[in-house]
Amino acid sequence: MTDIWSERAEQYRTSDAHREGPDLDLVVEWATAAGVRTALDVATGGGHVARRLREAGLEVVSSDPAPGMSPDVVCRAEHLPFADGSFDLVVTRVAAHHFEDVRQSVREMARVASKLVIVVDNCFMGEEIEEAEKLRDPSHVRNYGAEEWRAFCEAAGLNVEEYRFFEKPILLQPWLDRCGCEGDDAVRVVELLGDRVQGTNVVLDRIALCCLKSKGGAVPA
Ligand SMILES: C[S@@+](CC[C@H](N)C(=O)[O-])C[C@H]1O[C@@H](n2cnc3c(N)ncnc32)[C@H](O)[C@@H]1O
Repeated sequence: MTDIWSERAEQYRTSDAHREGPDLDLVVEWATAAGVRTALDVATGGGHVARRLREAGLEVVSSDPAPGMSPDVVCRAEHLPFADGSFDLVVTRVAAHHFEDVRQSVREMARVASKLVIVVDNCFMGEEIEEAEKLRDPSHVRNYGAEEWRAFCEAAGLNVEEYRFFEKPILLQPWLDRCGCEGDDAVRVVELLGDRVQGTNVVLDRIALCCLKSKGGAVPA
């Protein structure tokens, strides 16, 4: 998994689908509104969340298991090598669908945050879309729905304060190319996507959740 992501690093750094978007703007808006000063960007990939938060004046540490992504710290979301409450804000964007153990990852993000956790990810859109995602990129684990996200967050000792949905149009061909999906596989992926393919785009549903650490403090094991 890590080598694959290191090989893909340049594509994710330069990808228009990743380096901008209303979901990225919302992360900055929520962080700014909360007045947080320090942040951890989990699964930073091309570093777009870290970059935008630094531009907004935050002190940011980035993490990712793929050394080729050049994170500040090489680690998986399931085991974050930081003390409890190390960062005001912990954020992860468009990556949790790759985490092998999403519940453990959310627990870890809640543990190392002192105030706020923000999660942005593609939403569950049905089993055919899951099949398409896995065929396009075998490192895809699963997209989750809003109620699943709420349950993961609450089980980690987080209160979901707000959530928003987005429709995310992504250029289809670069989306396939980023994962080296071509030939018959690409044809089958497009078939499975059905009416999610609109012109030259694939349109995905995306969710963003803004969560506060529960006042009680203790995070369930
Ligand atoms: C689509 S990229 C992330 C995009 C980036 N966060 C952004 O906003 O543009 C997905 C990233 O997840 C990372 N990743 C995969 N499995 C992971 C895990 N178990 N823990 C943390 N990161 C993981 C990959 O190395 C990759 O850099």
